Formats: sequence, structure tokens, C-alpha cells
Amino acid sequence: MGDLNYSDKVMDHFFHPRNVGEIPDASGIGNVGNPICGDVMRMYIKVENDIIKDAKFKTFGCGAAIATSSMVTEMVKGKTVEEALRISNKAVAEALGGLPAVKLHCSVLAEEALRSALVDYYKKIGRDYSSFEPKPVTGEHHGD
Ligand code: FES
Repeated sequence: MGDLNYSDKVMDHFFHPRNVGEIPDASGIGNVGNPICGDVMRMYIKVENDIIKDAKFKTFGCGAAIATSSMVTEMVKGKTVEEALRISNKAVAEALGGLPAVKLHCSVLAEEALRSALVDYYKKIGRDYSSFEPKPVTGEHHGD
């Protein structure tokens, strides 16, 4: 991958992504895209008693977008929706052993996909989600 240094964890999640697919009876679905790079992510969560029991994703995007999607779906499983809302793109990038600066926006897209799925869940159950600030659906692009 050019002169970018990817961690072993990024490469592992890129070549062996976890949780690829759909959840037919998902509790929430998030759809996000970055208009600059053109990458899109769809995330599905299955929630029971406010606990995320399952998470899956479909990503049409770069290797880092696939690795961050994979990692974020692993991170949310077993967490409460409140805990999941606090997962930041930094935490995702750190869990992957870091990302090159020009690829940080890919982890932002993963955070947004998760957040978008959580907002969808809150809407479906009629819970107020204004207490957490929904982030814009497009990530900041760090240039390349
Ligand atoms: Fe856009 Fe990775 S290049 S998400």
C-alpha cells in the first residue's frame, strides 16, 4: 500500500474483516458516505434491552474504511447503546494500532456509521436523541 505504514492490526482487519454482512431484523441501520473520497458505509446493529447484541457492516471503500468498520463492529458488541455512543474515531484508530494521518477520516466515517445506526435505533423506539449531538454525516477529509 504505497509508502503508508499500516499496523498489523489494520492489515489483519482489512484482509479478514469481522462482521461483514447485514442484519435482516436490525434495530438500527446507519448509512454514511464521504463525498470527497466516495467511500460509503452501512452499519447494522441488533439491540436487546439497550445492549448491542450484534453488529454488521457493508463498506464500499478503502482498506482503512474496511478495517475501521470491522473494528468498530467488534468494539460495540456487548456494550450498552450509551457506551457505544461514546466510542470515538480516535478510540477506533487506537484499537487498530493507529492510522496514517491521511487515513484518519476513514475512522471518522466508521464512528459516524455507528452513530447513525444508534440514532436510527433511538428514532425507532421513540427515544430522544437530542441529548447527544449527532455529528455531521460526512467526515473531515485530511487531504492526500
Ligand atoms: Fe475515504 Fe478511506 S479513503 S474512507
